[in-house]
Amino acid sequence: MQLLCLSIVILLLVHPPNPCQAKRVVGPYSTVPSGRIKGGVEAEIGFAPYQVSLQPIVGSHNCGGAILNEQWIITAGHCVENYIPALVNVITGTNKWAEPGGIYYTAEIHMHCMYDQPYMHNDIALVKLTQNITFNELTQPIDLPIRPVHPGDEIVLTGWGAHEAYGGSVEDLYKLTLGFVSFEECYRIFNQTSSMGVGHICTFSREGEGSCHGDSGGPLVSDGRLVGVVNWGRPCGLGFPDVHANVYYYLDWIRSKISGNDRCYY
Ligand SMILES: *[C@@H]1O[C@H](CO)[C@@H](O)[C@H](O)[C@H]1NC(C)=O
Ligand SMILES: *[C@@H]1O[C@H](CO)[C@@H](O)[C@H](O)[C@H]1NC(C)=O
Repeated sequence: MQLLCLSIVILLLVHPPNPCQAKRVVGPYSTVPSGRIKGGVEAEIGFAPYQVSLQPIVGSHNCGGAILNEQWIITAGHCVENYIPALVNVITGTNKWAEPGGIYYTAEIHMHCMYDQPYMHNDIALVKLTQNITFNELTQPIDLPIRPVHPGDEIVLTGWGAHEAYGGSVEDLYKLTLGFVSFEECYRIFNQTSSMGVGHICTFSREGEGSCHGDSGGPLVSDGRLVGVVNWGRPCGLGFPDVHANVYYYLDWIRSKISGNDRCYY
């Protein structure tokens, strides 16, 4: 089973190496000069003011994320696992990850208490910043969902992820509209893999479109609410659904963390 999380690995900058590389990358490594979300189009300026870029050093995009409020960012667990807060710089308010609207620093990393248990489950994390984010027209929080995603809902993915598997992240933010794939259907397509569970949500449009390396941790938004956080897929756009953390499923965990209650819910 070839599964793969979708963060970019910056081997020389981060020690220990991103565990995503160690555990999840299967297949030969190749470099493609530039690209984007597989398929999709460039996002308009201000299209996704909740989008952030997580950078181990400022100037190198690793993962996406989303602003929940003045102090909290949500991303995938594998994007921040084994990172110290000093290696999680949060770039806000821009369509170009290399041209920050704002730079914020991380005070605390909160992995889900059941991250990767079982394997590839609960791949979600919260990052608390050292300073409050200043909101403006290009920098805004995204609302949490109030209901599960239904078939027929339109879901928008944004990210700086590569255009081809193992490719580099792109300068400009891209967006891609996807459809919801039911758990049963997705589970069937992935041959009942144990890497999928109730905390996952799947999306698909068509072959040639989907999330790719560098999109990990990034937001999937439906009807103005954050419904997913990019987790894993068969990179990239090969005709399989992409698998994300189902934000609705993790609402209690998110709220308890943000309110300072550290109880483990799952
Ligand atoms: C930061 O934002 C929180 C609300 O999220 C607020 O309670 C707090 O007073 C703010 N802190 C500063 C220094 O503005
Ligand atoms: C599921 O199994 C079939 C038959 O072995 C295979 O063709 C297909 O690629 C598998 N699906 C995934 C997502 O690996």
